[in-house]
Amino acid sequence: MCGIVGYIGSQNAVPLLMEGLFRLEYRGYDSAGIAVMTSRGNQVCRRVGRVRELEAALPRRLTGRAGIGHTRWATHGAVTQENAHPQVSEDGRISVVHNGIIDNATDLREVLIGKGETFSSETDTEVVAHLIARSSAGSLEDAVLDALGQITGTYAFAVTDADHPDRIVVARNGSPLILGVGDREMFVASDLSALVRHTTSAVHLDDGELATVTAGGFRTFSREQENTAKKPVRIDLEAQDVDLSGYRHFMRKEILEQPASAERMLRGRLDERFGTARLDGLNLSPRELRGFRRVKMLGCGSAYYVGQVGAQLIEELARMPADAEPASEFRYRNPVIEPDTLYVAVSQSGETADTAFAVREVKRKGGQVVGLVNVVGSTIARECDGGIYLHAGPEIAVASTKALTHMALGFALLALALGRVRDLSITDGQRVAAGLRALPGQIGRVLADEAAIAEVAVGLAAASSLFFIGRVRGFPVAREGAQKFKEVTYRHAEAYQASELKHGPLALIDENLPTVAIVPDDELTDRNLAAIEQIGARGGRVVLVTHPGVPHCARGSARITVPKSERELDPILLTIPVQLLAYHAARTLGLDIDKPRNLAKSVTVE
Ligand code: F6R
Repeated sequence: MCGIVGYIGSQNAVPLLMEGLFRLEYRGYDSAGIAVMTSRGNQVCRRVGRVRELEAALPRRLTGRAGIGHTRWATHGAVTQENAHPQVSEDGRISVVHNGIIDNATDLREVLIGKGETFSSETDTEVVAHLIARSSAGSLEDAVLDALGQITGTYAFAVTDADHPDRIVVARNGSPLILGVGDREMFVASDLSALVRHTTSAVHLDDGELATVTAGGFRTFSREQENTAKKPVRIDLEAQDVDLSGYRHFMRKEILEQPASAERMLRGRLDERFGTARLDGLNLSPRELRGFRRVKMLGCGSAYYVGQVGAQLIEELARMPADAEPASEFRYRNPVIEPDTLYVAVSQSGETADTAFAVREVKRKGGQVVGLVNVVGSTIARECDGGIYLHAGPEIAVASTKALTHMALGFALLALALGRVRDLSITDGQRVAAGLRALPGQIGRVLADEAAIAEVAVGLAAASSLFFIGRVRGFPVAREGAQKFKEVTYRHAEAYQASELKHGPLALIDENLPTVAIVPDDELTDRNLAAIEQIGARGGRVVLVTHPGVPHCARGSARITVPKSERELDPILLTIPVQLLAYHAARTLGLDIDKPRNLAKSVTVE
């Protein structure tokens, strides 16, 4: 969703701000803009559409040593140039970029209009620019604090003032904000990827924290104006992690990275001798792990589907009741939080608002929540009591792939740890640990079949509607397959349990509606094949995603096989082909694969 960049130092801010905005493009946005402190005062340029359109519209010879920039995802007000950020005070002095939502903006706007202010946009952010400009405080910091005292909602702000061009003031409450520390220069960003190439030293602001950023450094402080003395941390992000490195799309790059990233994620975490996992970051002793009676996964979208994979792994390996629930629904049903339930928040970005709210709901009611999170230092990672970092590396494509594989690996490790302090035998633990160890190589073998999978995808791209079916371990894979397919191809794709077909959806089957069937070699193979027979008998085409041991089925019109892993781990390998099917179908259709329409990488609003 929205992205923030800022720069202050001795270089020209304009190319640095633009580079940051290009790096933030992957988050999803509909307009972009920058405000630069020039020798002729504050200059603002905004455009609807892509960052490259903004770049083309910049006045020639626009230079300045400080500035802020933004990619906007419309929430308050339509997608127009007037509503793009930076928003500016009536006198043109104050510029504000903002991620988040001001809840009382409508009321404040009315009060300000009553006082004679004129608004030029429909945004909640413009209200803040007016409030800061109207403040009688002597410093920009005090004026920002004045404004914060009047607003409610979530925000990350960066503010410049033409009267104080030596500083950018920033504030955070509920939306991420990071300072990048350079040599006599400073950066501001909502996302680490905007800082790459410029600094390896960053400061994550906390909710309720502000900072004054100057060319010479920074000062962090609280709403009560007490210094918070934040120390920079090292960021391990290389340019190639966030660059295409010769690939045409990030989605394919990230799919192909999985063997190496999975290997890295497992390194040092598998204890094959005792058939368990080393998960120090959980901050839970074996005794505490034994004390839990139930496990609940909370995540959104694909992270929720992979939570279902996790629940099955935990039920199978630890024999504990476990389930997954969409975090977006959780807190609205006033959930009963049980002290002996382990809650697991799962998120790639660590910034998904719905998941963060679910974490807070659990904590408010005294529950214990750990995180499976990819982005180090993100909101969810910091708010959880402990967790497992996914170490998938940056994921830029909006459609998640490698991070989901890492979530499933994280759940497998957690299931091993929970199982081995219960009834999971050492031999079964060792069997699963060895299975995990073999997975990166096996993922590589699936990827080696990319060309054949791409051919199948070309056939699927022609259909306007598809089913994905599976049972038990195969069902979350089917859900993820349908999700990925619809996200990047804009085709209607729906997942069903294969067992449910005959209870309704079978009515839709004909030669125009293909089905992707997830058929592992397990105790349900025959039943899955029986469902495929029913589809074939009605003229439906079927693509089987299956194991080599599964008999050839006359009705299957195409067959993609993945190596057999330990049965509990089957969903992990079976998911790889459905990622490739979605990618290659979207490529056949010539779509904007990395930035599907209407979607954002990190959904930081409810
Ligand atoms: C699907 C997808 C989304 C995310 C969901 C949660 O490809 O990317 O469904 O899985 O928005 O995002 P995170 O994992 O960042 O919390």
